[in-house]
Amino acid sequence: MGHLSRYRSGVSSIAPIRPDEVDLLDPVVQANPYLAYDVLREQAPVWEMPQTGFYVVTSYAGLDEVIKDPGTFSIELGSMGMVSLFRTEVARKIFKEEGWVVGTKLSTDPPTHDGYRSLIDVSFTAGRVRKSEPFIRDIIEELLDRLTPSGRCEFVSDFCVPLPLRVITDRLGLPESDLGQLKIWSEAWVEPFSYAMTPDRELEVAREMVALQHYLVEWLERKRQNPQEDILSDLANGRFRGERFLTTEEMLGIAEQALVGGNETTTNAIASGLLLLLRHPEVMDALRQDRRLLKPFIEETLRLEAPTQGLLRRTTRETVLLGVPIPKGRMVHLRFGAANRDPAVFPEPERLDLTRRNAGSHMAFSQGEHHCLGAPLARQEMKLAFEMLLDRWSEIQLDVAEEELSYWPSLTLRALRTLPLRFQPRD
Ligand code: HEM
Repeated sequence: MGHLSRYRSGVSSIAPIRPDEVDLLDPVVQANPYLAYDVLREQAPVWEMPQTGFYVVTSYAGLDEVIKDPGTFSIELGSMGMVSLFRTEVARKIFKEEGWVVGTKLSTDPPTHDGYRSLIDVSFTAGRVRKSEPFIRDIIEELLDRLTPSGRCEFVSDFCVPLPLRVITDRLGLPESDLGQLKIWSEAWVEPFSYAMTPDRELEVAREMVALQHYLVEWLERKRQNPQEDILSDLANGRFRGERFLTTEEMLGIAEQALVGGNETTTNAIASGLLLLLRHPEVMDALRQDRRLLKPFIEETLRLEAPTQGLLRRTTRETVLLGVPIPKGRMVHLRFGAANRDPAVFPEPERLDLTRRNAGSHMAFSQGEHHCLGAPLARQEMKLAFEMLLDRWSEIQLDVAEEELSYWPSLTLRALRTLPLRFQPRD
């Protein structure tokens, strides 16, 4: 039996599967990558992925070592930034000739990173995040008002997409009237990370990304003239190390990352959390009875279904990781989703356990210098979403057979395509 049919038949024994049978680009594996992660973590926790040449790291200890040593494992992937993910020269030219070649400046190593990070950290202070609570509650209320009477919805597009999109659009200081276009751009922006674009699609995506750049440049200029309390104003008016304004490329890189980081991942976190609740009705009951359990539930959701499954670093010198030699200049792929299920750190890792003492040690937001700056906002959105939804809906069920659910193919994101639900309105 080939490895594909083993995945499809749901065989859970990992014994017969070897690392050389694992294909992380296979959509079937991406739909349920955890068996493949177990195989890699146990047999080859630093594994050279044949199709990409990435060194894929799957054990918690391995990720920890990489994250703590940015001098060897740099987040700077090259001067071309995102553009290096495009394989066709014609797509690359679109950036060079019509837009900007932008590598997000948050993706620099210490000590430079700190100068950029402090410019955007001001947008995510505890005070500002707390201040956004009434606004987030209003959005959720409005979404639930619209969805509740029919007792049915397609949860991803009806709820999980609009909530973070509206929140980050507001945080950036952009108008609600542009929401639809911003979603299209945000989706285009993450597509290169799927490592699965056709040459034609590369062209379309490059055009969308350059259109987003021009849109943001225009708004950054307006925010410089007329600053408000939002991310674009902070970027347009902040000074790097208190000395100089950011260049257009620098501002664009950070603004794009905030837009996309605030969007795609939070959407997927909420969708995955709801699916976990459907699979664990006893947990849904427990949450209904004691809202304090929402906090551990959210951490377990992030641990079990990390929305960002993996990201890259590049070696600055020849090194050895967990006994595996890695030459200089090679990509190292940190598999957050695999580290989060490492039994050496999380006993019975596949169990959704609201009493897990170290649930918050998961890697879903990475750790160290580049720990997600939007983590408090994402946690707040998730908490309010589940709290308010459980208040308004009872008997929540899947409206299709679970086998019909599927994930967008991606090496980076874990994204349910749809989650059709039916439920009883409680009000
Ligand atoms: C559940 C939701 C989220 C997940 C799973 C997530 C995941 C991550 C991860 C794994 C990193 C580390 C990148 C690395 O080490 O290479 C990161 C960084 C980042 N995230 Fe998030 N994120 C989420 C929500 C957000 C939100 C709401 C924002 C809002 C603006 C955001 C903005 C950023 C930015 C700007 C960085 C770069 C930080 C730096 O490099 O200093 N993220 N995120």
